[in-house]
Order: sequence, then structure tokens, then C-alpha cells
Amino acid sequence: MRKKIVAANWKMNTFYFDGMKLLSEIIPMVSDEVSADVKLIIAPPFIHLNSASHLLVDNKKIFLAAQNCFFEAKGAYTGEISAGMLASVGVKYVICGHSERRKYFHEDDAVLAKKILLILKYNMQPIFCCGETLAQREEKKHKEVVTAQIEKALFSLDENQIQKISIAYEPVWAIGTGVNATPEQAQEMHAFIRQLIKNKSGKNISENISILYGGSVTPANAKSLFSCEDVDGGLVGGASLNSRDFVDIVKAAI
Ligand code: PGA
Repeated sequence: MRKKIVAANWKMNTFYFDGMKLLSEIIPMVSDEVSADVKLIIAPPFIHLNSASHLLVDNKKIFLAAQNCFFEAKGAYTGEISAGMLASVGVKYVICGHSERRKYFHEDDAVLAKKILLILKYNMQPIFCCGETLAQREEKKHKEVVTAQIEKALFSLDENQIQKISIAYEPVWAIGTGVNATPEQAQEMHAFIRQLIKNKSGKNISENISILYGGSVTPANAKSLFSCEDVDGGLVGGASLNSRDFVDIVKAAI
């Protein structure tokens, strides 16, 4: 049965020493009991990754993620970071297709599909983000939008590959706004996504794939969201920048 996952997305926050301090606070707060039930993932900025990896050496409770990678394997792409580079410093997961990447960097699902193949090639696991804008939800197009995102980015993968993906449903209107999806809205969409995966890859894979919710998760609302049948934990932005809040959110997944 799938295990709950709570992933911290620090985004472009924390200067280097603040990030190391935050991680050093979190490490001793994660007990064996917590980590037995929940998989913890932390996605700091790129320049923190190598040192974070050293801090986490021999730590079997917390896994390191990157927030992005480039869509080619190597070469003359000034300023970019490849999947292989991330793997070489101990990164295990890569967030892919966050709505902020889609919005500010115009990443489309074709580009994301290329990134996903590279992430898998280097034995890391993609956390694929999808979700609709407020206007799309108001027009009742949210399911259509999410279907297209998932089909274009994931449906050319084979069974072996798709099993390694986690999906994060992140309605754009809920990200950083303080307005989270209700548990009913989250459950409806998560069940819908699971059904999409079932139609494509069968019951076994769909039952085992983790579907995280993201968008204004806090210690106050985490329990009600994570208790939904098809919500397998969360991708947490703002609240993950405070060690106590983040660990409280992790505990809400137990
Ligand atoms: P938020 O961000 O928790 O600050 O809303 C979530 C995300 O963007 O992953």
C-alpha cells in the first residue's frame, strides 16, 4: 500500500546559512515513529543541495529533492542544471512542472515530458505537478485541464516508468494564497486523477501511485486534507519554511 509523503518546497527562499539552519532544526525533530509512517522530502534551492546532502548522510528518514532540472542531459546551456548533476550530489526526487515554472518560464507539458525521462534515467523520481487556474475552475474546466497536463506529460511513459512518478495536484488558486482547496475539492480531483491513471495503466499501478495535495497547506488544515482517501500527503511551500510547522504538517499525515 502506498505510504504518505510530505514534501517541502522551499522555492527561492532561504539564503544558504538560513537553509542549513532550517534543515538542521528539522533533522532531530523527525522521530523514527514519524518516518516509519511518512516519507519526508525536502526541496531546497539548488545551491543548498550538496551541503544538505552531507547533512543527510546516513539519514534514512529525509530525502532530498530538487525544485527543477533542465530538459537536456548536458551541453552549452549557460546557467542550467542537469538531472545527472542533481543525482551526483544525492538528490532522489525532482519537482517537475510546478505552476510557477509553467507561468514564469513557460514550461509546457512537452518540455516536462523530456525532463521526466531524464530524471528517471538518472534513477531519481519525478514529482509531477498539475492543477488548474481559478478562471479554469470557474469555467468548470479543471478536470479537462488536469487531464491534458497528465496525458501530455505522463502517458508516453511505460508501466515501469509511470510507477516511479508521484503526482502533486496543486490548484494554482490555492498556491501561496491562504485559500486551500476544501477536502471535498481535493478528494474529488485526486480520485479523478487516480481514475485517469487506472484507465491508462491499470488498477495496481493506480492504487500504488502517490497523489499529493499542494496549495496553502498549514498545520491547521493538513489533517483534514490528508485524511481524504485519495490524498497521499502534501507538497508544502510557505509553511515548510518553519521547522515546527513543517513537522506538525508531517505528523498530520500519520
Ligand atoms: P504553498 O505552496 O504551500 O505556499 O501554497 C505550495 C507549492 O507551491 O508547492
